[in-house]
Amino acid sequence: MYKHILVPVDGSETAFKAAREALALAKLFGSKVVALYVVELRRLKEYEEDEREQVKRKLREFGVKTLERVQAEAGKFDVTFESMVKEGAPAEVIVETAREIEAELIVIGTRGLTGLKRMVLGSTAYRVVEWADCHVLVVK
Ligand SMILES: Nc1ncnc2c1ncn2[C@@H]1O[C@H](COP(=O)(O)OP(=O)(O)OP(=O)(O)O)[C@@H](O)[C@H]1O
Ligand SMILES: [Mg+2]
Repeated sequence: MYKHILVPVDGSETAFKAAREALALAKLFGSKVVALYVVELRRLKEYEEDEREQVKRKLREFGVKTLERVQAEAGKFDVTFESMVKEGAPAEVIVETAREIEAELIVIGTRGLTGLKRMVLGSTAYRVVEWADCHVLVVK
């Protein structure tokens, strides 16, 4: 049913929960899971120009570690798995990547690292639901 499932992860516990859900579905449907971490370039503006390269490297390293944690989980589920690190505005990159890999489903967390309880959805999740061409499963 779903040949390709995209799961964007930002290192938050909600995103890991979404990743486990994606892996369980992939196991059921025999899908391939692509996990994606986006280095949020907007965050670099908070830093002085001479610090930005270093911050970007740190974020990328954090992304790689986050994806390794998902990959370890994928091993337990025995599911075909690929991970990607990209840069840009998370929602835009997530939606573009879903098109690129021809994902029929995106599995995303309701909230992420900011995690404001008064918001039903974080801004990334909200935009992905709005812009995606495919189905989106929002995990609480
Ligand atoms: N940089 C990112 N790379 C990959 N996936 C992301 C990224 N940021 C968010 N996500 C995905 O979107 C989900 C919701 O996070 P979102 O960013 O919308 O909420 P938030 O961080 O609580 O709020 P906001 O970012 O609006 O302040 C996460 O659980 C994760 O699945
Ligand atoms: Mg966020």
